[in-house]
Amino acid sequence: MHLILLGPPGAGKGTQARMMERYYRIPQISTGDILREEVAAGSTLGKLANSFMKKGSLVPDEVVIEVIEERLSRPGYARGYILDGFPRTLAQAEALDRVLGLAGPGIDLVLSLVLDEEELVQRLAGRRVCERCAEVFHLSFRSPRSPGICDSCGGPLVQREDDREETIRRRLQVYKSETAPLIDYYRREGKLKEISAVGNPEAVKERIDQVLKGSFGL
Ligand code: AP5
Repeated sequence: MHLILLGPPGAGKGTQARMMERYYRIPQISTGDILREEVAAGSTLGKLANSFMKKGSLVPDEVVIEVIEERLSRPGYARGYILDGFPRTLAQAEALDRVLGLAGPGIDLVLSLVLDEEELVQRLAGRRVCERCAEVFHLSFRSPRSPGICDSCGGPLVQREDDREETIRRRLQVYKSETAPLIDYYRREGKLKEISAVGNPEAVKERIDQVLKGSFGL
């Protein structure tokens, strides 16, 4: 299965991608996670990326395309992958088509998560992430057993810099202008499936499972 998870910030792409990775045993590739690892490592790429990420802007296409090209050239993706947060612009979608066209099978399906804006803001503003292992929590919807402490590794939970209200609004605007046009792009290719992201993560995963069953006969 070669899948793209599309959707606005906070729709639950990362949450679903991690659940699908465990269930279907195909790896998730999140450009947001890759870039945050580079930021934490203080690499040249990380410093460049952070200057865009902290403002809620997109990292330039050529930078992200190189990151994803390098990642897809690694072994371990023979049975497929779940792209989370890539592509995010038409230029990235076209670059992906080019790269995959050269390398073998293309994208099978694009799962587009749909949620209204107020709920997106609520999910993002309440998100807390473990500084040590990157596990994701939510103050109301997935609260840790001890406040401020990661259930998995005991590390401190922090708010992502781009999850402050002003930056959230900017990210939502960027999504509408830069990324939402991909919905039509993939609809025209006949690959788009829209999925309501309302309800708890298990309910959303159930809808995804139904779509995957219908498409791949799983
Ligand atoms: P990225 O990390 O990809 O951020 P995003 O797309 O804005 O998505 P989020 O991670 O904010 O949300 P999500 O949909 O994954 O939701 P989550 O599952 O965490 O990108 C960050 C930045 O990196 C970008 O702004 C950009 O600068 C740069 N970047 C990355 N990729 C790029 C690219 N291709 N091109 C250019 N720049 C790029 O859930 C959110 C919260 O809600 C969590 O607390 C979770 O616990 C909770 N939750 C999840 N599902 C549910 C549910 N069903 N019910 C209740 N709560 C839920």
